[in-house]
Amino acid sequence: MKLICPVCGGELTPEPKRYLCQKGHSFDRAKSGYVNLLQRQSRRQRGDDAEMAKARQIFLNAGYYQKLLDRICAIAAQQQPAEIMDVGCGEGWYSCAVTAALRSMGCQTALCGVDISPDILRFAAVRAKQQGIPDADWAVASVNHLPAAAHSCDCILNLFAPCEPQEFLRIIKPNGILLRVIPLEKHLWELKEAVYEKPYENKPVTEAPDGFELDAYESLTDTITVPAEHLKALFAMTPYIHKTSEKDIAKLDALASLTTTISFGILQCRPKK
Ligand SMILES: C[S@@+](CC[C@H](N)C(=O)[O-])C[C@H]1O[C@@H](n2cnc3c(N)ncnc32)[C@H](O)[C@@H]1O
Ligand SMILES: [Zn+2]
Repeated sequence: MKLICPVCGGELTPEPKRYLCQKGHSFDRAKSGYVNLLQRQSRRQRGDDAEMAKARQIFLNAGYYQKLLDRICAIAAQQQPAEIMDVGCGEGWYSCAVTAALRSMGCQTALCGVDISPDILRFAAVRAKQQGIPDADWAVASVNHLPAAAHSCDCILNLFAPCEPQEFLRIIKPNGILLRVIPLEKHLWELKEAVYEKPYENKPVTEAPDGFELDAYESLTDTITVPAEHLKALFAMTPYIHKTSEKDIAKLDALASLTTTISFGILQCRPKK
């Protein structure tokens, strides 16, 4: 899938140091390889910062969510998409693994990851090279203005990230698939109990987004035991990190380890006919 120019909408051609459209709009690549295509009106939106990115790297690399990754790879293997866009891709832990798995089956899958946070895409671009996907494109952009042409995408990955149904409908092919993962009610329940006096359950939306229909839904629930050294990383990659006092977060210091529920909803959605 070719990225498109945020100024004129023309296709962008990747060059070693920049991306260039036919009208001459040029976007420099960062050293790590990602490109910033964020439009001015979206610059006020904030994604995750470098601290959250580092925490997620540590935690995901330790393999606690491996079962979820395996399931996503299995669904992708059934679909064999040629063009994947990972929206709110973070460090690309899932999409790099999915793409590597598809290529090992002989598919010529192209990957483009989009996130609003440049800090995070730096990690993603490095990871992709390490996993043998140096040709993946990583673009700083908003979920509201994705840098993809209309109906150019076979598979949108949207994992624990903001969802913008209208924009997804614009870029997805008529028979494409939107694969969403959301945290279910009891996800990380015991972690929340350890930190909060009165924890609240998540309120997940398990329906297809507007304009899509649900092709398949499944849940995946398990428990993980996280040693002290990874507990803060786990908490730091949640949205609660910015809303919790240091005093409450410090409660985690007292634990040698914590066994907690992980619980995900996996939605396979198609554009409504
Ligand atoms: C919870 S993280 C999930 C990252 C990755 N999908 C994963 O599961 O490892 C959510 C991601 O969405 C990004 N994000 C937040 N708002 C966004 C927006 N408006 N447009 C694009 N990405 C956004 C954040 O920067 C962050 O990387
Ligand atoms: Zn242009």
